Amino acid sequence: MRRVLVAGNWKMNGSKAANVDLITGLKAGLGDIGDTEVAVCPPFIYLSSVAEMLDGTGAAWGSQNIAVPESGAYTGETSGSMLNDFGCTYAIVGHSERRALYGETDQLVAEKYAAAHRAGIQPILCVGETLEEREGGITTEVVARQLDAVLSLEGVESLNEAVIAYEPVWAIGTGKTATGDQAQEVHAFIRSKVAEQSADVAKGVRILYGGSVKGANAAELFAMEDIDGGLIGGASLDAAEFLKICSAGS
Ligand code: PGA
Repeated sequence: MRRVLVAGNWKMNGSKAANVDLITGLKAGLGDIGDTEVAVCPPFIYLSSVAEMLDGTGAAWGSQNIAVPESGAYTGETSGSMLNDFGCTYAIVGHSERRALYGETDQLVAEKYAAAHRAGIQPILCVGETLEEREGGITTEVVARQLDAVLSLEGVESLNEAVIAYEPVWAIGTGKTATGDQAQEVHAFIRSKVAEQSADVAKGVRILYGGSVKGANAAELFAMEDIDGGLIGGASLDAAEFLKICSAGS
């Protein structure tokens, strides 16, 4: 059985005071969400303070990005070993905002995925198509290309220590969620792609859905056979809403 994972992607949001409120709110409800695994991914500057606040709660934390090199003259970058120093569990790689706004290519995303692994951190590999690509009928082609970049660099077995997040770009921050059936179709495709190389890995790998997940639509999505949780943006900034999503996974 794959354990449901609900991960909050805070993006570039938060402040010292807001984070205390949010984590305090989360901590108050974490005992009532059943078996769902919970993780939060705050901006880098808040990672260590959030990690301290989460200590002992069972909730994990992750970064929103990771550098490819291990150390050295890379101004502004944060490496996997630095993240590991603080007990980081996950690193989001290939989020569509990074692909679109910071020019991250499939190859660079694959290298970041590899960097996370080298540091003992599980990458959360984001894949997904734009509206134009969906309307052009090339959703599976795009997702396959994004996945293949990682599989050819790191091999299918690497997915034993990774999470995939299917995030249709048209559903991110737009309020337009994919329906359960729309999402399931792509999730099943992703799992079948992995199964072409290893049935065992395909059975075990968690595939999260992301894109306007809310308390009100999480249960429908998480009930789908190949949806193993969610990567949550906007709704992860509201403790009550995020906990509702977490509960939908139990
Ligand atoms: P959203 O973002 O939930 O605000 O749509 C999801 C994501 O970008 O990971």
